[in-house]
Amino acid sequence: MAKQPKIMIAGTGHFLPEQRMTNQDFEKIMDTSDEWITKMVGIKERRIIGDSGLSTSDMATAAGKAAIEDAGLTAEDIDAIIVATVTPDMNFPSTAIFVQKNLGAKNAAAFDVSAACTGWIYGMTLAEGMIASGKFKNILVIGAEFLTSLTDYTDRGTAVLFGDGSGAVVVKPSEDEKGMMGSYIKSNGDLAELLWSYGGGTHKNKKVTDQEKMVDESGIDKRSIIKMEGNKVYKYAVRAMIESAEKAMEDAEITEEDIDILIPHQANLRIIDAIAKRVNVSDDKVIRNLQYLGNTSSASIPIALDQARKEGKVKDGDTLLVAAFGGGFTWGGLVIKM
Ligand code: COA
Repeated sequence: MAKQPKIMIAGTGHFLPEQRMTNQDFEKIMDTSDEWITKMVGIKERRIIGDSGLSTSDMATAAGKAAIEDAGLTAEDIDAIIVATVTPDMNFPSTAIFVQKNLGAKNAAAFDVSAACTGWIYGMTLAEGMIASGKFKNILVIGAEFLTSLTDYTDRGTAVLFGDGSGAVVVKPSEDEKGMMGSYIKSNGDLAELLWSYGGGTHKNKKVTDQEKMVDESGIDKRSIIKMEGNKVYKYAVRAMIESAEKAMEDAEITEEDIDILIPHQANLRIIDAIAKRVNVSDDKVIRNLQYLGNTSSASIPIALDQARKEGKVKDGDTLLVAAFGGGFTWGGLVIKM
């Protein structure tokens, strides 16, 4: 007998910028090929903010608005806004504050969560606790990323991986067996340097002279771009996402046979396939949008969830397993009955 969930998903939404960047576009600016990217990662194109002038909060607002409408609510019904992002509009106030302003969600408390690609799962876990406290009813949980603002277009090992976008859900108290049945979040700070962008903040672990050297001849500030040791990240990601899936199922008191749909974080098709194989979910039950969106970090799962619902791939009553992994390292999983 599965546990009674505390929160359920009342609505979903997403937003993608219009401009596309294809593998062929990358072939023109760096030594790479459509063949390599397709084989090693599985991405064909990504959506990018480009010259649209949009910010992270603009994308988050659009996804949030769609989720609120889908839930049949108004912005004034929302009493908390959580934005998971590692590409905030500015140091402070939070990106969520601008979402609150844009939506006119005047009854909400708004703040950001920073847990890289696992951010939306961290946000959902926080929302569960807030609703369980009895002090909050309708919470907007958004993942929104302007990752191309941190992309080093001289580094073929990272540039081809990332895209921009946002996804959102509205959660509310669960009324029956539907909702978030299990969750798990974890991190390992010892591995921060394997995937990070260390520009901007107040860290003092580099001497000024070292920092100055970080600005290269072409003027690119190496501190404000994504640095990654792809191979090590890959291996850890597979292990951590499997652990997330298993722990979330354990928390939900269900087994692999109960899973209708798997929505893994969209980082690499080979990672997705490895997770699906390990948790024994057949290919037709795995949601993938990486091919045409790239890795949108904290936005990837809520975007995939909204698309899958609207396409009829996720139906009422389905049990979803989601799992993510990201910089930190952070990782986590959820089991949600729709
Ligand atoms: N096009 C062509 N060649 C590329 C390339 C590209 N875009 N990127 C890297 N290469 C080359 C490397 O320069 C290297 O060449 P060399 O052997 O001549 O030195 C070769 O491919 C192998 O590089 P390596 O980095 O060891 O490859 P890999 O097997 O680790 O694959 C990734 C690279 C990025 C596909 C893989 O590491 C990965 O997906 N990691 C996880 C990244 C991720 O998902 N991060 C976000 C987590 S949320």
